Amino acid sequence: MREKLRDWIHRGFARERAVIERWISRQAQGNAGPASLRVLELGCGAGVLAGAFDPRCYRGIDSDAEAVAAARRRYPEYDFRVGDLRSPETAPLFREASTVVCHGVLHHLNDLELERLLAAIVEATSPGASLLAIEPVLPPWTNPAGRLLASRDRGAWIRPATRLEELVASSGLRLAESRRISLWPRYPISSQAYRFVKVRPGRQSVNGKDE
Ligand SMILES: C[S@@+](CC[C@H](N)C(=O)[O-])C[C@H]1O[C@@H](n2cnc3c(N)ncnc32)[C@H](O)[C@@H]1O
Repeated sequence: MREKLRDWIHRGFARERAVIERWISRQAQGNAGPASLRVLELGCGAGVLAGAFDPRCYRGIDSDAEAVAAARRRYPEYDFRVGDLRSPETAPLFREASTVVCHGVLHHLNDLELERLLAAIVEATSPGASLLAIEPVLPPWTNPAGRLLASRDRGAWIRPATRLEELVASSGLRLAESRRISLWPRYPISSQAYRFVKVRPGRQSVNGKDE
């Protein structure tokens, strides 16, 4: 029932999926074609977005074993794994990724956990790698319904867009493009889709200089 309600609110995540597909195909054109893309989806849940990717270049990870089991049932030909994004054991997966995708996941991590995750992504990926993130945006006080729903969300860190951008930028990833996805009037919290790019090799520090 909850899943059905969420699907109705998001209409099957059609808009999110369209944005991700457009950005992914643009990235494929800029590289050596789709075969060079290796997608890692963080917090893939039940695999709702996996179908947007070629199963040969996709891997999804989520800490919820039940959700991962549901994803495997939904898409048996895809690679889904159980893993915690806060664990250093997850870091080797980033080395194999040219595109890291996440939808509604970063607000499940507090600032320190998010900074560590971003640092691991920056450290492990190659220049040109992308982070495609779609995140709910903390509504202003003038939107009390949105504010109330945000306070009840399972992810306890729904941030203002500027705060998330600041955290990602301080990891060294550069904001390449972003767009707002509004679900009004079905849902009073809008999302922001981001494409961040790793521009330089190696670890990148807060002030933007390579270490
Ligand atoms: C709002 S759901 C989004 C699921 C999926 N991306 C989607 O769009 O349907 C957030 C997901 O993040 C996962 N998650 C939260 N914290 C996590 C962590 N530390 N490590 C791995 N997955 C995590 C949850 O288990 C959940 O599946």
